[in-house]
Amino acid sequence: MTVAWNKVVIQKNLFLNMRLLVKCRKELINRCIIHIAEKWRGKSWNTSSYFHISTSSRSLILGIETSCDDTGCAIVDNSGRILGEALHSQQETHLKYGGIIPPVAKNLHRKHIDRVVKDAVAAANIDVSEVDAIATTVKPGLPLSLVVGMEYGKQMCLEYDKPFIPIHHMEAHALTIRMIQEVEFPFLVLLISGGHCLLSVVKAVDKFLLLGSSLDDAPGEAFDKVIRRLKLRNMPEFCNMSGGAALEKAAERGDPLAFEFPSVMTQYRDCNFSLAGLKNKARRHIIEEEIKHEIEGDGIIPGVFDLCASFQLAVSVHLCRRVQRAMDYIELKNLLPSDSKHLVVSGGVACNGYIAHMLSVVCGKYGYELAVPPPHLCTDNGVMIAWNGMERWQAGVGIYQDFKGIDIESKCPLGEDIREDVAQASIKCNWIKLKNLMVT
Ligand code: KG4
Ligand code: ZN
Repeated sequence: MTVAWNKVVIQKNLFLNMRLLVKCRKELINRCIIHIAEKWRGKSWNTSSYFHISTSSRSLILGIETSCDDTGCAIVDNSGRILGEALHSQQETHLKYGGIIPPVAKNLHRKHIDRVVKDAVAAANIDVSEVDAIATTVKPGLPLSLVVGMEYGKQMCLEYDKPFIPIHHMEAHALTIRMIQEVEFPFLVLLISGGHCLLSVVKAVDKFLLLGSSLDDAPGEAFDKVIRRLKLRNMPEFCNMSGGAALEKAAERGDPLAFEFPSVMTQYRDCNFSLAGLKNKARRHIIEEEIKHEIEGDGIIPGVFDLCASFQLAVSVHLCRRVQRAMDYIELKNLLPSDSKHLVVSGGVACNGYIAHMLSVVCGKYGYELAVPPPHLCTDNGVMIAWNGMERWQAGVGIYQDFKGIDIESKCPLGEDIREDVAQASIKCNWIKLKNLMVT
């Protein structure tokens, strides 16, 4: 509920609200509207109130990310300038273990978070007292990892008397692009990472329509598992890369048409994804090849590059098919303006140039502009959290002075779920030819 300034009805937390308000006015405000609302993503969080600050002067948000295996922190301003950032990746440790072990991830976050935050603040050349609020990922993610960032962020808020902005990790991936280029709401977003595969229309900072999601593996997860099974880390040039990055590099040396993968979910006229079938087919092929060539231990099958290229093509085609149906659905329901249509792709797998190229073909046919953040902003980082905090700060949504009741959520939906409606539309697509595309 938005209430005009002169008609403010303050029901709860009157004292806290007024204190913050006075501070806001002193520091930067031209106008301040208090919202009395407790709902954020459909969940009631205690008695907090929201503040909307529309300002022509500079605002600063500090963001903290610890949802998975990256400890990140950044400070951004309202023009999208990154004042300072720092990141500690746990990738090397988890590659050694063959996957993320949550207690190990938690300990590493604990060990590094203080230094990462201090480094980001030092790089920004500011004092924490100068930031307007502290944004922190609280969902979705590994519970043990999320807790570290949330507790640290809340502690900072208490120490510096700042409001807390809880962040949805996938929403942050979705909006990162707006820090770099002009992408107006509404737009279509494909979020592809190690834990998620989501297709959504973004209507506003806090308004998402979920068109499709993965029924099993996320693309990054499927890439990581196939690469691990292929034992590609035993080749020095791939040993320090994430599974997805290694797969993309290996695929450059292979023939994408060497190995045939079946089309996926052709009988379902929806926008959901399924990658477990493709992953299992790749696994079976690896086992067969190992038996055929009597490969044991650390040995690698001879057709490894062809398999990577063919698997990458199969995953790309599947992603493109679901995106194409989403575009047809959007047209049917008139969900995007006809003169400005963007497909934003984000999350770690969006670093993949091959997938981006395939999607650009779909975009070209449907009159969409493809927008992908640079790789270091596609993978997990503190900047995207700080920027999502800034988007919320500017829109006056989800800013908490009283944040005691806010907790982490390991699983969490992305906005309003309209997947059933997409399925009911039962759109038969006129498929764009993709398999014979040459990617240079
Ligand atoms: O977004 P992100 O950093 O963390 C999650 O929230 O999951 O994504 C990590 C995922 C990993 O699975 C990694 O293998 C994948 O992104 N990835 C890639 C590439 N670079 C990273 N996948 C495909 N191609 C790449 N170049
Ligand atoms: Zn992520």
